[in-house]
Amino acid sequence: MSLPARVTIVEVGPRDGLQNEKAVVPPAVKAELIDRLAAAGCPVIEAGAFVSPKWVPQMAGTPEVLAAMHRKPGVRYPVLVPNLKGLDAAIASGCDEVAVFASASEAFSEKNINCSINESLERFAPVMERAAEEGVRVRGYVSCVLGCPYQGAVPLEAVVAVSERLHAMGCFEVSLGDTIGRGTPAAARRMTERVAERVPIERIALHFHDTYGQALANIHACLDLGVAVLDAAVGGVGGCPYAEGATGNVATEDLVYMLHGMGIETGIDLDALVGVARFVGEAIGRPVPSHLAAVTAAA
Ligand code: HMG
Ligand code: MG
Repeated sequence: MSLPARVTIVEVGPRDGLQNEKAVVPPAVKAELIDRLAAAGCPVIEAGAFVSPKWVPQMAGTPEVLAAMHRKPGVRYPVLVPNLKGLDAAIASGCDEVAVFASASEAFSEKNINCSINESLERFAPVMERAAEEGVRVRGYVSCVLGCPYQGAVPLEAVVAVSERLHAMGCFEVSLGDTIGRGTPAAARRMTERVAERVPIERIALHFHDTYGQALANIHACLDLGVAVLDAAVGGVGGCPYAEGATGNVATEDLVYMLHGMGIETGIDLDALVGVARFVGEAIGRPVPSHLAAVTAAA
């Protein structure tokens, strides 16, 4: 297959990025971040998570964020929900797109959402049902697709099986998460090819963390498989609170730079996005780890 002409970037910075930062960013600043991302042309912005505040305190202000931000027509603003309670709260905040999250690793599932993989998928069934009744679209995440911080290797069969079940349940898209950023290009490509045997490639998104500096290489290795949805976080901030040592997602601005360089459209204004990365750095009180932010700061 040839390279896609256009890729949809799912900006996960306000959720995945900020859920693991020490600094607690106030809802008004998060809302401004989201509005700035929309103004820079981001088509999909994950705005927060309706999870237990005891588990992830950084996401506690999600209702306030959603109330303060300005929804730009044509932009999608999904939020994470682990169960019906989360879905109800998301709907009450006016959300029409959510994401459930499962893991391909039993050990990670227990640490992250306090249940087995099977139990999590069973818990999602009523979520899918209620979401369908309410006209809410549901995305599905699979974590630890290229390794787990607790159990180490994760069998490819488990990645394929969980992906297939989420898709069969009605998830419009399955995002494959290298939660700890341990994957390398050949493994990333093999994993994506295997999942694509069971889930149509146009329904697959890739979600790489950059812990080992492999995220862009991994994406590059998979692009010609027909993947056209990529997750990224502005500034490359964050990580996962239940995956110690895991750093942020691939930085959106570094990804956009690479894609535009390859002639692949994103609809995102790179200069504006770099400005947003700087804004995130101010919000969390440290320079963001992206290459583009460093280059432009030095210029
Ligand atoms: P639990 O303790 O087993 O659940 O947690 P519970 O049903 O016994 O509830 C415990 C308390 O949480 C109760 O409150 C509930 O009401 C409350 P209490 O009676 O003690 O005061 N509760 C909630 N509160 C707000 N919103 C909710 C909710 N549900 C229950 N939706 C639970 C189970 C799933 C709730 C918990 O483990 C949890 O919230 N986990 C979230 C973990 C998380 O957000 N992790 C980060 C996101 S995943 C990720 O980053 C990976 C990803 O980026 C992809 C990748 O990189 O691979 C997506
Ligand atoms: Mg993640």
